[in-house]
Amino acid sequence: MSAQIIDGKEVARQRLSMLADRVAERKNKGLHTPCLAVILVGDDPASAVYVRNKKIACEKAGFESRSYEMPSETTQDELLALVDELNGNPDVDGILVQLPLPKQINSQAVLERILPHKDVDGFHPYNVGRLVVKMPLMRPCTPKGVMTLLESYGVEVEGKKAVVVGASNIVGRPQMLELLLSRATVTICHSKTRNLAEEVASADIVVAGVGIPNFVKGEWIKPGAVVIDVGINRLDDGSLCGDVEFETAKERAAMITPVPGGVGPMTIATLLENTLHAAELHD
Ligand code: GUN
Repeated sequence: MSAQIIDGKEVARQRLSMLADRVAERKNKGLHTPCLAVILVGDDPASAVYVRNKKIACEKAGFESRSYEMPSETTQDELLALVDELNGNPDVDGILVQLPLPKQINSQAVLERILPHKDVDGFHPYNVGRLVVKMPLMRPCTPKGVMTLLESYGVEVEGKKAVVVGASNIVGRPQMLELLLSRATVTICHSKTRNLAEEVASADIVVAGVGIPNFVKGEWIKPGAVVIDVGINRLDDGSLCGDVEFETAKERAAMITPVPGGVGPMTIATLLENTLHAAELHD
């Protein structure tokens, strides 16, 4: 039987509409409009698309968005100076530096410069640490968006065996923590994992975020599992595909996210949720 498709676009639309209502309510009460500052350095086309989508979502939901575009030769000091300025600007609630950054810039140094309560990406070690000790302040957008999707579709996480494929700072590691916070038994797989197929086959919930097209084979999926595909890979013909072999996986899974239209829209909705949260911290 074919899996139920998890419609991230629809869940994100509902979340954004709820956020828009909350922002309108703030405005009625005379509270300031939540403001997200997005910094894009260089001319990576995929990053430009992501940043544009974030801006459009902000405008639709009544958030203020400020964009800062810097050339690819920007130095680390120049970027840090802009982060400092935004940290000190009381009108700015959230700061997002789009990754990847050009190679002359140490990304970690930049992420650590953002004040933790303005770190709407949740990448600052302070925010990562708070997630580790079960007291999150800002939760990384993609893993939090995945948890929202699971909840929206009534997927029980507690006690389930979850396997995360990929151990990046943006997706895999925080996803492992989110699932653990929801009391799953979690295994995280990476390039040195032995018997990846066996690990995936043991999972009730699979989250794939490796950035390699069709890396997780459909035949590895346990019948009845829930499959969440975080990958967005552009193929030579211009089409998008995920990290999971969708067509075969969907014949085994109970539920599966499509690419596009699965996790991607949830990342943006969650970013706005975090920006509103940052504004509330600031009130
Ligand atoms: N590049 C790819 N995904 C992300 C993300 O979630 N946040 C930032 N800042 N950059 C990214």
